[in-house]
Amino acid sequence: MLTQPIDIPEHDPLAIPAKKAIIDQILQNNQGKPGATMVVLNELQSQIGFVSESMQQYVAHQMQVPVSAIHGVVSFYSFFTTTPRGRHTVKFCMGTACYVGGTPQLIEKAKQILGIDPGQTTKDGAITLEVCRCVGACSQAPVIAIDEEIAGRVRPNKLPQLLRPVQQSG
Ligand code: FES
Repeated sequence: MLTQPIDIPEHDPLAIPAKKAIIDQILQNNQGKPGATMVVLNELQSQIGFVSESMQQYVAHQMQVPVSAIHGVVSFYSFFTTTPRGRHTVKFCMGTACYVGGTPQLIEKAKQILGIDPGQTTKDGAITLEVCRCVGACSQAPVIAIDEEIAGRVRPNKLPQLLRPVQQSG
């Protein structure tokens, strides 16, 4: 429930009339339907490209559900992002085999190369780093996915070479 006004940053979709109209339309189409929260959040992610903090507060207010419930869904499913995704996504598998096999070291190396943490996007909008659950290629641990391409047995010193094409393709 809304207890204080929503702080809407200048570039938030809620501050852009065309985007706000889409958000309101999605909310209106799903008002009162069972499972509406999930449907609304899915549509916002697909149509707007992300679900910002302000959008989460707005949805909670409009649907009369606690912000914590909305936030819980958005942070649980990796499908949702709170900022726009980059043109390419690099995912690090955090399943047990990959984790034990060296995913933390790969993430560390990626941070050095790109200057961002998982969940963030490079300033030029080229790459978003994410973590994911087991992708079913455990025998090749540690595994990363660059867009839809899986790369296995990745070593930190191989990462620059693997990332170069997506860094350069813009
Ligand atoms: S644990 Fe990474 S692919 Fe299964």
